Amino acid sequence: MKPKIYCTLPIPKEVEAYLAEHCQIRKWESEQPITRQDILQEVGEIEGLLTAGLRINDELLDHAPHLKIVSNMSVGYNNFDLKVMKKRNIIGTHTPNVLNDTVADLTFGLMLATARRIAEWDTYLKNGKWERTKSDEPFFGLDVHHKTLGIIGMGRIGEVIAKRARFGFDMSVQYYNRNQKVDVEQKMGITYSDLDTLLATSDFIVLLTPLTNETYQLIGAREFKLMKETAIFVNVSRGKTVDEQALIQALQNEEIYGAGLDVFEQEPIQKDNPLLGMPNVVTVPHIGSATAQTRDAMAMRAAENLVAGLTGRGTWNQVPY
Ligand code: DGY
Repeated sequence: MKPKIYCTLPIPKEVEAYLAEHCQIRKWESEQPITRQDILQEVGEIEGLLTAGLRINDELLDHAPHLKIVSNMSVGYNNFDLKVMKKRNIIGTHTPNVLNDTVADLTFGLMLATARRIAEWDTYLKNGKWERTKSDEPFFGLDVHHKTLGIIGMGRIGEVIAKRARFGFDMSVQYYNRNQKVDVEQKMGITYSDLDTLLATSDFIVLLTPLTNETYQLIGAREFKLMKETAIFVNVSRGKTVDEQALIQALQNEEIYGAGLDVFEQEPIQKDNPLLGMPNVVTVPHIGSATAQTRDAMAMRAAENLVAGLTGRGTWNQVPY
C-alpha cells in the first residue's frame, strides 16, 4: 500500500506525477491560500506532508498521528519546532543548493536597485519627468562596484554572493559567521570580521543568517547606529532577524542610506507599514527563490526528499535536530 501524503502548495505536473508513482497524494486545490484549520483537517491519515512555512508544532502533530516526515519546499526551516519533532521522531527536510544562484541574483538585484535608485528612476520616467535638467540630480545614487560588502551568515548562498561581488563587481568582501570558514576565505579572497567591525566598515550589508533563537532581531538599533550613513542594508534571510521598528527609525533618521528587503517581520506585510512609503527602500514580497526554473527544481527536490524519507531509499536533505 502506498503511503498517504498531503501537499499544501501548488506543484508542477511532473512533480505531482512523480509523487503519485510512490504515494497516494491529496493536495490543496483551491485558489485561496490554505488556512491552518484546513490543514489540521487534512493531516489525520497522512504519513508525509509537503509544505513551506507551515508551523510544525505539537498542535499540528497531535492532529497527525501517522506523520513520519515533513518536507519543506524551502531552504529555511524556522517553521519547524525541532525539539518537538525530535521528541516525536518526525523527519524534517529542506531544499538547499538548488536555489543558491537564484537567491544570490535577487540579492544583487536589491543591492543595485537600492544603490542606483532604479525604482525611483522608473517612476520618474513613467510620470513623464525626463527632461535632463538639474532636477534629475537628487536621484543620483551610489556605486556598487569596488565597494565593501559585508555578508552576515556565510553558508552556501553567502558563498555565491561573495563570488559575484569579488569577481563580477571587484568588491572587497568581509563576512561574519558563527564559524570561521578558512577554505571559503582562500577560495574567494574574502576576510572574516567580527560583527561590529563588519557593520561599521561595510558599504553594503547583506543579512543571510537563518532565523534561530540566537539570530532573532540580531540587527537592531545599536547595530544600525554602527553602520555608515551611506550604508545599504539588504535582508534576504527572514524578517525576524531584524528589529523592524529599529530599521524604520534608522531609515527615517537617515542613519543609513537605504534598504533592499525581500523579507518582513509580518508576511504578507501590513499595508500601512512605513517601509512601503519610503523612496529609499526597495521591497519585494519574499521572492528570493522565485523563478519558474528554481521553484520547479525546489518542488522536485522536496518531492524526492519526501519519497526517500518515507521509503528509506535514496538520500534526503534532513535538517539537523
Ligand atoms: C527559502 O527557501 O527559505 C527562501 O526564503 C526562499 O526565498
